Amino acid sequence: MSGKRERLLLALTVSALIDEGDEAGAARAITEAALDGLGVERCGVWRMADDGRSMRCTHLCDRAAGPDADPHRDTLDLALSADAFPRYFAALARERAIVADDAPRHPATAEFAHGYLDGLGITSLLDCPIRQHGRMVGILCAEHRGPPRTWTAADVTFLASLADLFGRALTAAERRDYRQRLEALNAALEERVAERTAELRAALDYLDKARHHLVEREKLAALGQLVAGVAHEINTPVGVIVTATSHCQGLLGELRTAQAAGTLSRSRFEDALAELDDGLAMALRNAERAATLVESFKRTAADQTHDVRSRFDLGQVLADVLAALQPLLRRRGVRTELSVTPGIACDSYAGSLAQVLTNLVMNAAVHAWPEGAAGGAIAIRAGQEGPRAWLRVEDDGAGMAPEVLRKAFEPFFTTARTRGGTGLGLSIVRTLVEQTLGGEIRIDSTPGGGCRVEVRFPRRAPG
Ligand SMILES: Nc1ncnc2c1ncn2[C@@H]1O[C@H](COP(=O)(O)OP(=O)(O)OP(=O)(O)O)[C@@H](O)[C@H]1O
Ligand SMILES: [Mg+2]
Repeated sequence: MSGKRERLLLALTVSALIDEGDEAGAARAITEAALDGLGVERCGVWRMADDGRSMRCTHLCDRAAGPDADPHRDTLDLALSADAFPRYFAALARERAIVADDAPRHPATAEFAHGYLDGLGITSLLDCPIRQHGRMVGILCAEHRGPPRTWTAADVTFLASLADLFGRALTAAERRDYRQRLEALNAALEERVAERTAELRAALDYLDKARHHLVEREKLAALGQLVAGVAHEINTPVGVIVTATSHCQGLLGELRTAQAAGTLSRSRFEDALAELDDGLAMALRNAERAATLVESFKRTAADQTHDVRSRFDLGQVLADVLAALQPLLRRRGVRTELSVTPGIACDSYAGSLAQVLTNLVMNAAVHAWPEGAAGGAIAIRAGQEGPRAWLRVEDDGAGMAPEVLRKAFEPFFTTARTRGGTGLGLSIVRTLVEQTLGGEIRIDSTPGGGCRVEVRFPRRAPG
């Protein structure tokens, strides 16, 4: 290959135009190199249709118009079909290159003699296939004017090299197209993700508000339930008080009338006194019951705010509470066993904790064993897990039926109303554990299988 052609090929090979994916730019540079390297006036790039049955000229470089005119044209109305030029298309499919020194008479190109070659003054044609991914996708066509020319093997090799370079440019263009489409797709995807994220965030906001609303409603409902329960509970003793005192009042009136009339007998007086005694005792008992209920109710609501936060040793507080409960427990024949990891430091509400333990221990003492049945034992254990502490109160008594377990935390639910139970104990315990200590509570119990209550809470109370 001549030095000039080598230089032209080298310049193109290293040129950014080829690998940048600029198809039109590559077509300009390659056709121009063909003109310079082969010494021809005209060179075109033809692209084959996908079905291989037609071709269209996508770029043409023709210097016939003179050195000052731009020889390049991109928009052309030149097309060839296999139906109109069957021999040419057959030759393209067969040959490595079409080398037509005498184009009007060459078997592959004679079809172009009239109307194309004669019109343009073309005498010799050299066509090399442009390949991409091993498939012919077009041709690079050098056209010679003037006396017929004999194409040399070097001419063919040179144009074939240029056609290969154009194939490389097409692959780069394809890659650029893919990349641009991918980028567009990516951008669209990012936009959709952003949209979806915004939608999800809005949905979350909505849910959060709805949840907040529900919690507020739930709190109000719980409060309403509590108030209704208190009213109902207090109504009973108050009703008895009203009945008993009005009965006593009536009796006193009768006595006064009889005494004034001088008809009051000694025995009637004695009976009336006994009746008054009974009535007042009944009123007092019920007044006490009402007072206890009010006290319990106050504990539910008020104690949480009255308890002061302090630093304490968990084992110490639990031991103190149990010591205070011993007289009561002894009377019921119930033993306690305390086992606590020493040195569990808490910064929390010792009063609430004491109330929790008292309720749980008293529950076991009251509900686990039939009254008077000695020998019950309550195990109290406590420990620490990093920043959290746990407290377990366990008895091996009667346990709870599933429906009792389900309702155990409900305010005023009790199976011991006749024995003075208010049903507020566990409800208070749960409120204290969750709201004051910032922990959680669970009960495991089966009928006949004892009862195990576990409380877990942070050693450092929230807030
Ligand atoms: N250790 C236990 N063993 C068996 N049943 C229990 C135990 N602890 C609680 N219960 C059941 O749970 C119910 C509710 O307990 P809660 O402490 O709330 O109320 P109470 O003990 O009945 O009344 P109060 O505590 O207000 O005096 C009890 O009535 C009882 O049926
Ligand atoms: Mg109780």
